[in-house]
Parts: sequence; structure tokens; C-alpha cells
Amino acid sequence: MSLYLPKIIAHRGASAYAPENTLASIQCALDMGAKAIEIDATVSQDGIAMVMHDFNVERTTDGQGPLTLKSAMDIQALDAGSKFSDKFKGEKIPKLSEVLHMISAHDIVLNIEIKTTLGWEEPTARAVAQTLKSHANVQDKVFISSMSTLALDVFHDLLPGLPKGVIVYAIPENWAERLHQHSCKSLHCYHAFVTADLTRDLHQKGYRLNVYTVNDAAHAMALFDLGVDAVFTDYPDKLLAEC
Ligand code: G3P
Ligand code: MG
Repeated sequence: MSLYLPKIIAHRGASAYAPENTLASIQCALDMGAKAIEIDATVSQDGIAMVMHDFNVERTTDGQGPLTLKSAMDIQALDAGSKFSDKFKGEKIPKLSEVLHMISAHDIVLNIEIKTTLGWEEPTARAVAQTLKSHANVQDKVFISSMSTLALDVFHDLLPGLPKGVIVYAIPENWAERLHQHSCKSLHCYHAFVTADLTRDLHQKGYRLNVYTVNDAAHAMALFDLGVDAVFTDYPDKLLAEC
């Protein structure tokens, strides 16, 4: 599998312009010409892969409490748009299957970050893999990542052919062993930890470095100069135009 993430990745869709991780933010990124879109995927109480960043629904919706204590039907009854802007009132938390259907006709890479509620790593990874198994037509557009190496291993057992990356904040000393051990092709880290030595070492070992979250074009250019392969941004239009 030779798929890799292109240089500019829309973070949670075009999340500066539409509510993050919704069909509206994904459509907005597509309209801006994004070639890669990142979303976060977690799981409902009844085992359905849902597109959501936080453990709890308060920040982005009109509901309360942990998402994993709600059924997919109850999750989809929440308003995930109004907190961003009245213009998006009624926007829903999508099922992962809805996103896969939406992107199927587009020439893009979808980075699905498996966002595991601590303790629910296995059911989350299983739900994402099962959804992808029932959408085999889009599997060749999908790049998987996670901060949870357990989730990456569970996913790998179910769908070993899909490319994967490990997400960290700071760079662990044993990053090379970690990438190798979990069958990953790239390291994804917070931008402040990038150095030219790191990118050189990663590239020498055949890995790529993808960096979050970079919303300024000059900053992105400086990171590309250090050898970074791709950046996650809330402003895909700005970076696509200027980088
Ligand atoms: O996948 C890169 C980035 O999305 C990781 O951080 O918290 O935005 O999911 P977060
Ligand atoms: Mg993410």
C-alpha cells in the first residue's frame, strides 16, 4: 500500500469555517480543493463508529455527557452546528459510514484518527474497521492514525492492508521501534517538536512526519523547510493558496 497523506490536510474538515467533524466541514474542505481531510472517529454505546473529537458532547453540541454512553440514534438527535454558528443549526454528528459515502466520489485521502475513549480502545478500533469493511470501495482512500497503539494493533489485525500512523504530542525516544512495532508508515506530532534532525532520521528510516495543527502559511513553509511532509490545518484554503 503506497498511499500517503498529501502536504495540506484539512483538520476535522475545514474546521475554521464550519463545525468540526461534520458533513458541512468536510463539504467545505472539498469545495476548497483539499486533497486530504482528517476526521476523528469514536464509537457509540451501540457500537456504531461516529465522527467526533471529544469524549463528551458538551463543547460542540447541545447535549451533555460521554458520547460512548449514548446510542447512535440519540447522538444523531444532537445539534452539532449551533454552537459554531446559527447558520449551521441542525448539523449532526455524522456516522463514519456517512462520511465514507460522501467522499467515495472524490479524489481525496481521508485520514481517520481513531479517537479512543480510554478503556474503549478495542470497541472503537473494531467499529472503525467494521465500517470500512462494509465500504470496501473507499478503503484505498483511507489512512488510519491514532494516539492509541492498542487501537492501531486491533485495527491492524482486522484490516492489515491500510496505511497507518502513530500520533504523539512530543517525540518519544523510541519512535522508530514504536513505528515498526505497530506497522506504521508515519509519525504525527505537535509542531513545536519538529527539528531538521528528526525529519532527516525519519526519512532515512523510510518514514514520514505529519504535523498538527498549523494555521499560518509562513509557519507551514518553515516546517516544510525543516523537512515536514504534511501539516494539519483548520484553514486548508489559506495553506493551499500560499504553500
Ligand atoms: O491527527 C492530528 C490531530 O488531529 C491530532 O490532534 O486533538 O486535533 O485530534 P487532535
Ligand atoms: Mg484528530
